[in-house]
Amino acid sequence: GTPAPEELLKVAVEVVREAADTARRMRADGVSGITTKSTATDVVTAADRAVEREVVAALRDLRPDDTVLGEEYGDSAGSAAAGPQTVRWILDPIDGTVNYLYGLPQYAVSLAAEVGGEVVAGVVRNAVTGDEWTATRGGGAHRAGRRLHGSTESDLGQALVATGFGYDPARRAYQAGVLGELISYVRDIRRFGAASLDLCMAAEGLVDAYYERGLNLWDHAAGGLIATEAGLRVAGLAGVAAGPDLLIAAPPALFGPLHDHLARLGAAGGP
Ligand code: IPD
Repeated sequence: GTPAPEELLKVAVEVVREAADTARRMRADGVSGITTKSTATDVVTAADRAVEREVVAALRDLRPDDTVLGEEYGDSAGSAAAGPQTVRWILDPIDGTVNYLYGLPQYAVSLAAEVGGEVVAGVVRNAVTGDEWTATRGGGAHRAGRRLHGSTESDLGQALVATGFGYDPARRAYQAGVLGELISYVRDIRRFGAASLDLCMAAEGLVDAYYERGLNLWDHAAGGLIATEAGLRVAGLAGVAAGPDLLIAAPPALFGPLHDHLARLGAAGGP
């Protein structure tokens, strides 16, 4: 039968603790194996690859039938034929790779478990600080044993809003244009450099809201559940599911105003 979300979370937490340790230990020895992906600033390091291989191997061991989608190596199938109830793990081995490169303490391992196309458990762990955010669908979001509640801000003019940019130069320029307009309607903007941690910070109320265009599933699968379970509304433009076109995470009363401004500014458009 399908495992309970709590059972999947236990597995995720165990695997991610080890993986985050690997990332931190590798960084202490310096950065190696740097290559680029989509553009000259979209980097991958030996640690991204090592952590992904480690997590996939650990999941293979603990849950051999499950499938895994990872940022660096894509899909790997389980030992059984996949069916509608097969667990799919969604992994970002190092989210915040540029922070990792520079040694900024804001990079994380993000792992979510999806069943029947729905994320049911997720964990994000800051590899440097060891801060760890978890959630199960319907079971709330937690950090250090405390239940999390996002901001209750409803006034866009008072909202601290986090965001991020893609790696494509034309897209970044467009995103900066949108942000240049938005900034006069909000309290201020933050760009921390790891989408999964941005979502966890929103879940904790350390920022009021977060939005970004162009995310991949591994960037937001775990963090999106954590933010949702902390009471935020996580969705895309015009109430469509959050996806590559735009993801907005905001307290319910702030979602509308932020959404409408982003829609008016064409945040999901451009290159
Ligand atoms: C990136 C980070 C960044 C976000 C980018 C992501 P990566 O992930 O989450 O904050 O703005 O859109 O691609 O490349 O560090 O795993």
